[in-house]
Amino acid sequence: MFFRKSGLLPKNRVVRHTLYRLLLAAPMLPLAACGPSEDCSTGPESLTVDGVGYESDGKVSCARCPLDSIGHHALNCFEAAAGGKTTCYYYACSSDGRRPEGLRESLQHEQACELGALYAHVAWLEAASVPAFLRLADELAAHGAPKALVKAARRAAGDEVRHTRAMQALARRHGALMPEVDLPPFQPRSLEAMCTENAVEGCVRETFGALVTGWQARTAGDAEVRRALEPISRDELRHAELAWAVDAWAAERLTSPERERIRQARREALSALEHEVGSQPPPEHFVREAGVPSREQALGLLQGLAVLVV
Ligand SMILES: [Fe+2]
Ligand SMILES: [Fe+2]
Repeated sequence: MFFRKSGLLPKNRVVRHTLYRLLLAAPMLPLAACGPSEDCSTGPESLTVDGVGYESDGKVSCARCPLDSIGHHALNCFEAAAGGKTTCYYYACSSDGRRPEGLRESLQHEQACELGALYAHVAWLEAASVPAFLRLADELAAHGAPKALVKAARRAAGDEVRHTRAMQALARRHGALMPEVDLPPFQPRSLEAMCTENAVEGCVRETFGALVTGWQARTAGDAEVRRALEPISRDELRHAELAWAVDAWAAERLTSPERERIRQARREALSALEHEVGSQPPPEHFVREAGVPSREQALGLLQGLAVLVV
């Protein structure tokens, strides 16, 4: 596997291409027109190309789209191949973490439909990801992994500290507090056990989490949520790439039966996630205000991820 001289992990083109392509399906909603509690189900507006320009930094500036609350114009305007029409997508109104071994569930079921509980739960998952990445870094170092992988795992732990704070702030806005992370001490384990956890929590769940976070950053009706999740979605994409880089590095050190068991664990994790997503449709206000994908959208995203996982 190739690592840059800078010690940073190379971008994974397959993972990035897959996630970006799936995120193109995210509906972009008009933002200046309505507040978080209103119905923001307006679709894209089709305009002539006359209204669209490009700024010096390459961003689209569309005079026909309303300004959003922080003075930005359209986010994406696509020129149709024929017919001289441009489709403008603009915000007007308006994840998941790496669960460490032994993590005990904290969600109070009676609060499960409240936005504050949702953000508090995500903050708790982000907080639980910190020890998961620190353990991964230590294990990678112990197994003689390249420094770039160890460094990326430590960096990810630092990212998760910031994510925890950001999600705690969203939870507090809704009067909710993050539950404590309840975790037994880690025990030594084999390379295969480490890779199985990486396959389930990183290659499947965190890769899906990166997709969901990117989706929320594009579609949440609440501008604070979009602002908080935009930088988090970039970090989560790197975490997904780290998971796949660990998987590729370890594959060269595992036996053929061990590799097959890990592939099987990935497939089972994808099926379990499909069952989870299919059996727990999010409340409508989670979709509207937090940008959580609906059940159908989430199942579509999971289907798209299958090309990476299977
Ligand atoms: Fe995170
Ligand atoms: Fe993460």
